[in-house]
Amino acid sequence: MQITVNGQRRDVDVEDDMPLLWVLRDELGITGVKYGCGIAQCGACTVQMDGLAVRSCQVTAASADGADITTIEGLGTPDAMHVMQEAWVEHQVAQCGYCQSGQIMQAVTLLDTNPDPTDDDIDAVMSGNLCRCGTYPRIRAAIKTAAAKMQEA
Ligand code: FES
Ligand code: FES
Repeated sequence: MQITVNGQRRDVDVEDDMPLLWVLRDELGITGVKYGCGIAQCGACTVQMDGLAVRSCQVTAASADGADITTIEGLGTPDAMHVMQEAWVEHQVAQCGYCQSGQIMQAVTLLDTNPDPTDDDIDAVMSGNLCRCGTYPRIRAAIKTAAAKMQEA
């Protein structure tokens, strides 16, 4: 398969039914994307595929062939963070951190389609991303901060 990951074209020789999650983590060493449940129930494996948030544990290599993938590593760097990452730091969202890359990728996708979400909008879109540390109030606050900064810009 051939995919573009974080702006780089990559060729990978894998079985058609290998989950994209394993392609990213095991074949390409992109470990910001996390394995939580493997059955589309937790959101830890969320990445953007062609601009949409997907659960990479449920996307096969065959169906990702030719796609443009963005992972947390492609959003920003410590010196040049994405506005969502800046908001995450500002609100000190992360606790253990395990769910957080999936949360951020889902949140970025939310603002791509809804730049000024209400609490209900946020809850509806983020409800599939579970956090055992209970960071939900800070996730909501960070999304609102990022939305405000993006509108200012
Ligand atoms: S690991 Fe994919 S949704 Fe949980
Ligand atoms: S920060 Fe620990 S699971 Fe979300």
